[in-house]
Amino acid sequence: MPVKYIPYVPNTIEGQAILDNITRTQRVLRYRENDKVYDRIKRGMPYYEVEPIETVGQPSENMVIRGECISACAYLKEQGIKIDLVYIDPPFASGADYAKKVYFRKNPKLAEKIAAAEEEMELEDIQAFEDKMYGDIWKKEDYLNWMYENLMAIKSVMSDSGSIYVHLDVNIGHYVKILLDEVFGEENFRNEILWKYVKFQMRNMGRYAKNTDRIYWYAFEGYVFIPQVIKLDEPKKLLMKGWDKEKGVIANIKDENGKTQKIEVDDETVDDLWNIPFIGATSGERADYATQKPEALLQRIINASSNRDMLVADFFGGSGVTAKVANDLGRRFIHCDVGINSIQTVRDRLKEAKADFNILEIKDGVSLFRNPQQTMDKLATLITGLQKGVAGIGKFWFGAMQDSKKHTVPVYVPDLINSQQKVLDIPLMNQILNQELDTLDINIKKIIVYYIDIDDRPELDKFIKENNATETEVELRDLKNLLHDVVVEDDIEFKIIKMKADYETEITKFTSDRLTQKINAFNEKGNLQSIAKGKAFTPINLSEDGLELIELIALDCDNDIGEWHSSTEIKIDKLGYVIKDGVKTKTFWDGKILSTKKPLRLKVRNISGDETICSVS
Ligand SMILES: C[S@@+](CC[C@H](N)C(=O)[O-])C[C@H]1O[C@@H](n2cnc3c(N)ncnc32)[C@H](O)[C@@H]1O
Repeated sequence: MPVKYIPYVPNTIEGQAILDNITRTQRVLRYRENDKVYDRIKRGMPYYEVEPIETVGQPSENMVIRGECISACAYLKEQGIKIDLVYIDPPFASGADYAKKVYFRKNPKLAEKIAAAEEEMELEDIQAFEDKMYGDIWKKEDYLNWMYENLMAIKSVMSDSGSIYVHLDVNIGHYVKILLDEVFGEENFRNEILWKYVKFQMRNMGRYAKNTDRIYWYAFEGYVFIPQVIKLDEPKKLLMKGWDKEKGVIANIKDENGKTQKIEVDDETVDDLWNIPFIGATSGERADYATQKPEALLQRIINASSNRDMLVADFFGGSGVTAKVANDLGRRFIHCDVGINSIQTVRDRLKEAKADFNILEIKDGVSLFRNPQQTMDKLATLITGLQKGVAGIGKFWFGAMQDSKKHTVPVYVPDLINSQQKVLDIPLMNQILNQELDTLDINIKKIIVYYIDIDDRPELDKFIKENNATETEVELRDLKNLLHDVVVEDDIEFKIIKMKADYETEITKFTSDRLTQKINAFNEKGNLQSIAKGKAFTPINLSEDGLELIELIALDCDNDIGEWHSSTEIKIDKLGYVIKDGVKTKTFWDGKILSTKKPLRLKVRNISGDETICSVS
């Protein structure tokens, strides 16, 4: 359970939005009438314990937080931290699952041979598979309810003169704009920026190519705004305009003869159409993170809406573009994301940029397997007897099982990508009993409801007793017990040799059940597809020592418990080259890592991002 609930900023700005009109025209965006949301907003943001995981560089105020936006905001509000500039690029309810390509590294033994032949590896030569990173599949109403709560949480930690940029696309932007007006105030709306990214040339689609995203900018009284200027390829003449005090309008500036004045300029101030190219395929800033945004976009936002030393936050941080650019521009930063791949990507990116920061984890009782999406997939295999896609059981249910009398028992599991479902409360139980049970096509005697936290158990039991017209048996099960089984550590064999001046730690064998299962599934699928399509398929074969599954090795020579601090570390990039303590080299990894002091702990990250820490003793 959360330690406590922290109030959101009091009240949204009433009377600004036109949500009532939408309800009247039957477009069912009923969050105003939706007791669930209203109740939650009244209850506040869930505040959980926060564990320091790692300090990178020198102690500083910069933070990388693993956890949900709402809980991160609760933590910041409790700490009295106020943010000057927020940029968010949340999921867009696009209906897509985003995947990360997982590349096998060069096994050190092979790498030696390659180095000898001085052969450069090409990316196409490397074997890879895909891992789900985050899912963006929502019903519009659920999405907007979720977004509303996130926006309220963010507003709760913004400074009185703060700015927020909300990045969305053409499909969902206009729905969220209504929420933004309501939460941040229509009078604080400054611009709708069209980011023209020119990513694709699309032809023969029966419509114009879609090459823009929307960024809504809101800023409170006293906000920072530094107009941005871009150099023109060649000078041009522009009409001069200014404020006509008498008429109280913007008008052409005229000379004493009444002639309009022109001015020749070789630069121009940026307006609300931003032509900024997408990150090129070979660009150095590519972090291989789906939906990664270009640094140039964030440079413009941060330069325009903050001063040095101000605090810039991104609560859906992804690849860490906001934190990276904020650091480059001398601002303090907070990066938050719920997925482990994001936290690792930004950690490595910021380490290479020589930033100082602390990594924190919100202990909300949900030990995720990498990210909510992959955890949901994993859970399906952990619930004994669960079957997915059972006839007559709708999408609300995670699946169904059979009891000893062969009756179908629908199973509800909270959707981990939707924080609103984490706490089982009366509105949710009401939905299950009085709405979802009615829609089932089959006769049901029992249901199983998994929960992470229960708001008020005696109240809930009472509610079930009094509101269960069909007398269906409701079995409540704690999902946390299952989630504990989701995370299994990898197995590392290593030896440490005392050399003349250094300690040499050598990894002799690496075994990862998580990756082996994934690879077996990949090979099985590939084989089946190759049979169906009559095409050759090369399965992935792991070496005996499994060293190609390792992405990062770090040593802590100062502490054997508590927060991690890397005394030294090496990361192996996709091509097999070593990045040593954040510095790129042209050396292949040889299976070893040197340290000046005796290591007390060893950390290994596998290519899918799972980390295992071993004590050297
Ligand atoms: C569109 S991506 C952000 C991309 C980012 N702007 C970049 O340039 O790399 C959205 C991110 O939101 C994260 N996310 C989804 N739900 C979240 C939540 N409730 N709290 C925090 N992060 C969340 C996902 O893991 C994903 O990394």
